[in-house]
Amino acid sequence: MDLSPAELRLARERVRGATLVEGDSTAPLPFDDRSFDWVVSHLVVMLLGALDDTFSEAARVLKRGGKLAFVFDDLGRADGATYVELMRAGLAAAGREQPAHFRGAADARLYDAAALETFLEDVGFRTIAHHRFAVGMHVDADDLWAFMHASYPIGELDGHELDAAKRAVLARAAEVQELHIPLQLVIAERFA
Ligand SMILES: C[S@@+](CC[C@H](N)C(=O)[O-])C[C@H]1O[C@@H](n2cnc3c(N)ncnc32)[C@H](O)[C@@H]1O
Repeated sequence: MDLSPAELRLARERVRGATLVEGDSTAPLPFDDRSFDWVVSHLVVMLLGALDDTFSEAARVLKRGGKLAFVFDDLGRADGATYVELMRAGLAAAGREQPAHFRGAADARLYDAAALETFLEDVGFRTIAHHRFAVGMHVDADDLWAFMHASYPIGELDGHELDAAKRAVLARAAEVQELHIPLQLVIAERFA
């Protein structure tokens, strides 16, 4: 599921045979109670603000003993700052809104392991794994643009917006030699 038809088009090209649904993860899910073994979310939850409804819905559609796995980035926080600075510059030049985690509006419980565990328990999950890791890559300006160009939310732009974002990113990209993207993976089991 994704909110964006453009991102779903990309997914359709890359994942043959999957059922893809346009929808909002902060709204009730269009799926029956206890109908899934796994709910997996990759690089979305830090974009959503308060996660109470989203995780309650994940619990509702999972079978008892089903698993929730989610990956999110820490880019809105200090150690991802260089990449975020470039993304912010590109989006601003394109006249686009900044995503929630770039505005400091992500759910703060994501960044406090104890608070996250308590929150997950309140909505019916037992945390069974929580890992912090990072991807790092050395880049030159063209490689950097190629990476950002394919990444949400810059990847959604086209035409003049994309040109404006590219100019703004490349104007600032010279000082970036390495991208460091801190990530977290959480796996939790539905117990109720
Ligand atoms: C960083 S991309 C990750 C895309 C994909 N999950 C992946 O890993 O390649 C973030 C995605 O979150 C989607 N998104 C943002 N807000 C959303 C919402 N409220 N409901 C569903 N999807 C949303 C965006 O459209 C975008 O495709």
